[in-house]
Amino acid sequence: MKADPAPKPGILILASGSGTNFQALVDASRQRDFPGDVVAVGCNNPQAFVLERAARSGIESFTVNHRDFDSREAFDAALLAHIQRYNPDVILLAGFMRILTTDFVRAFRGRLLNIHPSLLPRYTGLNTHQRALDAGDEVHGVSIHFVTEELDGGPVIAQAQVAIEPDDTADSLAEKVQQKEHLLYPIVLRWFCEGRLSLSAQDQILFDGEAIPGPLVLPEQP
Ligand code: GAR
Repeated sequence: MKADPAPKPGILILASGSGTNFQALVDASRQRDFPGDVVAVGCNNPQAFVLERAARSGIESFTVNHRDFDSREAFDAALLAHIQRYNPDVILLAGFMRILTTDFVRAFRGRLLNIHPSLLPRYTGLNTHQRALDAGDEVHGVSIHFVTEELDGGPVIAQAQVAIEPDDTADSLAEKVQQKEHLLYPIVLRWFCEGRLSLSAQDQILFDGEAIPGPLVLPEQP
């Protein structure tokens, strides 16, 4: 008789909006050889379309509405209580538009990833596409990083670039960047679930046990 295969790492996603990244991650995780399972999605916005996507995809979801709480600490404590029910191995922020408290971030150090729509360290925070246009940049893109206490400031694991064309607008750039997001996040998640990726005590990114000198870059595809 064959032994049961080892359980795959459990992936929990936090999202606030449309959930296109959630969908890309779920779709990737359903490929037969994917080394992880999406166990749930948590959301802070009861109207978010990601909840509809979760229902359609058969993924459990929960909502913790930040408006129901007086403080970030109380919101994060409620969020944590929900997350703990799933005992995830990794948490992915995928358009989760709340700033998490230091305690929350520390509780998941090395297991908490975020996707950000710029080539960090450029353009932390909001309106990244317009800011790249306003600066006259020729290249823009997306970053995936480990979350640390510093907002959008944790070590960057991987980036994908897009060229900015003269006729680009914030909307057209957002679309191009999102296409890259949907490719890059599943790749990085696969690495994490395979145990190839970790965060050292000194905040260095280890890939296959070696510190990487800078973000891994997905080349521009034709
Ligand atoms: C994504 O573009 C993601 O990079 C961005 O929100 C969008 C969510 O889209 N995240 C941030 O801005 C985080 N600071 P989605 O809901 O369709 O995945």
